[in-house]
Amino acid sequence: MPKVVHTIAELHKILQPLWRKGEPVGFVPTMGALHAGHISLMKLSKAAGNVLTVVSVFVNPLQFAPGEDYDEYPRDLGGDVKVAREAVVDVVFAPSVAEMYPRGFVTWADQDKLTEKMCGEHRPGHFRGVLTVVLKLLNIVRPTHAYFGQKDYQQSVVIQRMVTDLNLEAKIHVCPIVREADGLAMSSRNAYLGPKHRIEALVLHQALVRAQELVAGGEKNVKKLHAEIKRIIGTAKSAKIDYIAIVHPDTLEDVNDVSGKTVFAVAARFGKTRLIDNVIVE
Ligand code: PAF
Repeated sequence: MPKVVHTIAELHKILQPLWRKGEPVGFVPTMGALHAGHISLMKLSKAAGNVLTVVSVFVNPLQFAPGEDYDEYPRDLGGDVKVAREAVVDVVFAPSVAEMYPRGFVTWADQDKLTEKMCGEHRPGHFRGVLTVVLKLLNIVRPTHAYFGQKDYQQSVVIQRMVTDLNLEAKIHVCPIVREADGLAMSSRNAYLGPKHRIEALVLHQALVRAQELVAGGEKNVKKLHAEIKRIIGTAKSAKIDYIAIVHPDTLEDVNDVSGKTVFAVAARFGKTRLIDNVIVE
């Protein structure tokens, strides 16, 4: 059974002996509602030989804009602890909002450029909230290795940039997307989908797979690829596209043609549920 701790002081009691001996600590930051995607990150941390793996479960209010799903976001610490136990995780760190942001909290981490487009454009303030909590968590856990999912591709780039820019010590690992059998990318937000939207949401993966096939067949033209992705997503009646991005994997700048490693990323709403997905095309 993992040890469940709610305060930074309790967590530090567990971690201090490891820090002193310089033993590797693995860290999987999450907002809970743990699913197979999170389990894959925990297993990677265990398999990589980290002496101890910490999973944080914290629904971070700072990364939700007003009107977003902060209140509805699924919370089930008991269920999460069971999942963590199956993944043989050692510690679940589940702080309260007051523990993370005590009275008087006014300091933020922020970033230019990489946060301006894609999800950043559609979710104002989101990455400022993500960067702030991730910086705090990395300072609190002081992991040797931290594991993030590729599904949040822009988030992974933004975090890696922060780690470089601010000389943080954790090594960031971006791990493959885990999908349902029919291709839908695993996400805690999939739980919001009713049966109709659940089926319609498959267009995201279908559109990305089609783009991948076209590129494999020699298509390099970004406009054509964009149009095909838009067409396929548009076959779902309820889909409202936030963005279709065909971008450089590191700079997230739009590419002129698909000649090198390129990221195809999409975000769309199905009813009230906003989903994202991506593929990296080599
Ligand atoms: O990807 C998530 O679940 C969150 O954005 C993260 C990294 C745990 C920060 O709250």
